[in-house]
Amino acid sequence: QKLEMELDSIEKGGYEHFMMKEIFEQPRSILDSMRGRLELEAGHLNMGGVRAYERKFVTADRIIIVACGTSWHAGLVAEYLLEDLARIPVEVEYASEFRYRNPIITERDIVIAISQSGETADTLAAIELAKSKGATIFGICNVVGSSIARATDAGAYTHAGPEIGVASTKAFTAQVTVLTLLAMIVGHKRGTLSDTKLRELMMELSNIPSKVEKALLLNTEIEQMAEIFKDVSNFLYLGRGYNFPVALEGALKLKEISYIHAEGYPAAEMKHGPIALIDENMPVVVIATKDSSYEKVVSNIQEVKARKGRIIAVVTEGDDVIPQMAEFVIEVPATSEVLTPLVSVVPLQLLSYHIAVLRGCNVDQPRNLAKSVTVE
Ligand code: AGP
Repeated sequence: QKLEMELDSIEKGGYEHFMMKEIFEQPRSILDSMRGRLELEAGHLNMGGVRAYERKFVTADRIIIVACGTSWHAGLVAEYLLEDLARIPVEVEYASEFRYRNPIITERDIVIAISQSGETADTLAAIELAKSKGATIFGICNVVGSSIARATDAGAYTHAGPEIGVASTKAFTAQVTVLTLLAMIVGHKRGTLSDTKLRELMMELSNIPSKVEKALLLNTEIEQMAEIFKDVSNFLYLGRGYNFPVALEGALKLKEISYIHAEGYPAAEMKHGPIALIDENMPVVVIATKDSSYEKVVSNIQEVKARKGRIIAVVTEGDDVIPQMAEFVIEVPATSEVLTPLVSVVPLQLLSYHIAVLRGCNVDQPRNLAKSVTVE
C-alpha cells in the first residue's frame, strides 16, 4: 500500500494530480515543441513535415482545420494566426459535424487535423472524408505513431510528452506553439510575413516559456480566488480576438473538471443574449490583455459591471485601468498579440484546477469523460 502510494507520487512528480503536474510542465513542453524548429541565431524556422509540402501551403486556396474539444480551440487560435500571418482563408470545423456534412473540398485545400491522442474517432473520420476528396492532410498530434498521425500525408508532432489528466492543458499550449510556427513559416514563404516581423516573432516566441513560468507564479493567488468562487453554479468567460478561443477553453476546463456550468463567449456577443444572465451572483472571467481589442473589452467589462456581475479580469502586467473596475485582477506578462493565448490560458487552467479540487472532484478522471474518445 505504502509502496503503491509512493510510486503514484513519483509518477505525479510530487504534485497531487497529473493535471497540476502537466500545467506546471508547460514552460518545458512549449520549449520542446519549438526545439529544432526555431533557430534563433540563424534566423531560421524549420519543420520537416512542412518542407515536403511547401508548394501546397504556398498555393493553397484554403485551410480547413478539423478537431474536437480543446484541440478545436487550438484550431480556432490557428485561424487567427494563419489569417493574420499567412493571409490564407481558414475554416475551423468540429470534426463530428464536418464528417456528416457534404463539405466542399478540393485538391487545392489543405486539411489540418489536430489531436492530442491521435485516436479521436470523429477526427479520424473527418480525415478519411477529406482524403477521399483529394485534399492534402496535415496532422498535428502528440502521440507518436497514433492512428491520426498514420492517416495523414504529413504533419508535425507536438512534443508535450504524455498527457494523463483527462483535461488537456500542456497539449493545448504545445498545439498552439506548433500552429504558430506553422503560420510563421507559411506566412514567410508566401511573402505576407516580412523578414523583420518574422525575426521579431521568433524572438518573442522564444521568450514564451519564461513568460509562462512567470504566469505560473500566480498559483497561490488563484488558489485563494478559487476558495471564493468554489460554490457558484455558473461562470461566464469572455474574450475577443486571440482571446476568444481562450475564453472557450477556460470555460471547457472549468465545466469538465468542476461540473460547474460555464460558457465561453466572444465578449461582444454578450449583448445578444448572455447579458441576460448577469446579476450579482454571476462571476465573469474577462480576458482583457493589452491588444488591439483592449478598449472594446474595457467597454464590455463596464457593461458587466453595470449589471453587478463579479468581474475576474486577466490583464497585462501594469494595467492601471481595469483594476479600478474588476473585483479580481490576474496579471500576466505582456507579449506579442499573436502569442497571447499561450500566456493567458495558464491562469484559467489553474483556476479550474483549484475550484475542482476544492469541490472534491476527481480532477484527473472526471465523471463521464475518457482521455481519448475512440467511439462516435
Ligand atoms: C479536453 O480537456 C477534453 N478532455 C477533450 O475536449 C479533448 O480535447 C477532445 O476529446 C479531443 O481530444 P484529442 O485532442 O485527443 O483529439
